[in-house]
Amino acid sequence: MARDRPLSATYEAPPNIALVKYWGVRDPERVLPYNSSLSVTLAGMRSRTTVRFDPARTVDEVILNGAPAADGPRAGVVDFLDRVRTIAGLRFGAEVRSDNNFPTASGLASSASGFAALAGAATAAAGLSLSDRALSQLARFGSGSAARSIFGGFVEWRAGARADGVDCYARALYPASHWPALVDEVAFIADAPEKEVRSKVAMQSSVRTSPGYAARIAEVPRRLARMRRAIGARDAATLFPLVMEECDSFREVCETTRPSLDYLTSTSRAVLAEVRSINRAAGRPVAAYTHDAGAHVHVFTLRRHAPLVRRRLRRLPGVRSVLEVRPGPGAHRVDGAARRR
Ligand code: DP6
Repeated sequence: MARDRPLSATYEAPPNIALVKYWGVRDPERVLPYNSSLSVTLAGMRSRTTVRFDPARTVDEVILNGAPAADGPRAGVVDFLDRVRTIAGLRFGAEVRSDNNFPTASGLASSASGFAALAGAATAAAGLSLSDRALSQLARFGSGSAARSIFGGFVEWRAGARADGVDCYARALYPASHWPALVDEVAFIADAPEKEVRSKVAMQSSVRTSPGYAARIAEVPRRLARMRRAIGARDAATLFPLVMEECDSFREVCETTRPSLDYLTSTSRAVLAEVRSINRAAGRPVAAYTHDAGAHVHVFTLRRHAPLVRRRLRRLPGVRSVLEVRPGPGAHRVDGAARRR
């Protein structure tokens, strides 16, 4: 029970972009995915979250980007706090303040960075000292992709095979410094629609209704293993086609879901076509597109090709801006206190 608890802690966590997509859970209760996924943690963007447990509080207060949260977003945070309170044997209400240094509506997944930061801050504030692996196992209950944002660089979230989920966790494959030449040119699409349904809900309708879902699940492990090797060898010529193949597989499953999940705009599709055209003209894969459940498109390339790729993307009508992002560090505590790993 209540030991010498700090009661307050602040964590920062970055978003990530999946090269192998998490899409579908075999156990919704434990958030156990059908397939392992692989991502790059993004530098320069972060959620910063402070959690303060207060013995005088009975109701949680959740402030997101300066405004009180309500409905779904608030409920997601409160459910997550309940989970932490149960683990820590704590009954106090909490004040949660979370800010992103990137616009939430930009379409860059704020749920991954937000729940990774919340997992770190809430457990530290409750006096728990979790390893990064255990934090990743907890963060997935807020948002599956948050499991990967605990770590920096190139990250694998292992699906595991056990029913109890002990072998389901994220781990760093390679640090952010592993491949300095690799960059992500993010094409922001003007008028990108806001997401109506959370991915964690949408993906389950793909599991139920997409005729291609089973075939995708069968082919992903091999693709992931090949991508892991290509990243290890810094082999862009092997990696880039696999990144696009995986993105196409994800998109096809979404589009054949009933009702169809269509996340792209005509501008997003023009970006995909432009990347194909750049590669055709170069006679080899110099860039790779990928997107999540949203309209913005991440285009991976090598530094020496980045000026060309940026120029080609910027001239497309409907592309609002192109931002260069690199692999970056994972979640960490920022209010001083050290944490055991
Ligand atoms: C397409 O369950 O992490 O980004 O429902 O927004 O919390 P939320 O998302 P989550 O699903 C992420 C799906 C994805 C692919 C991925 O990041 O692996």
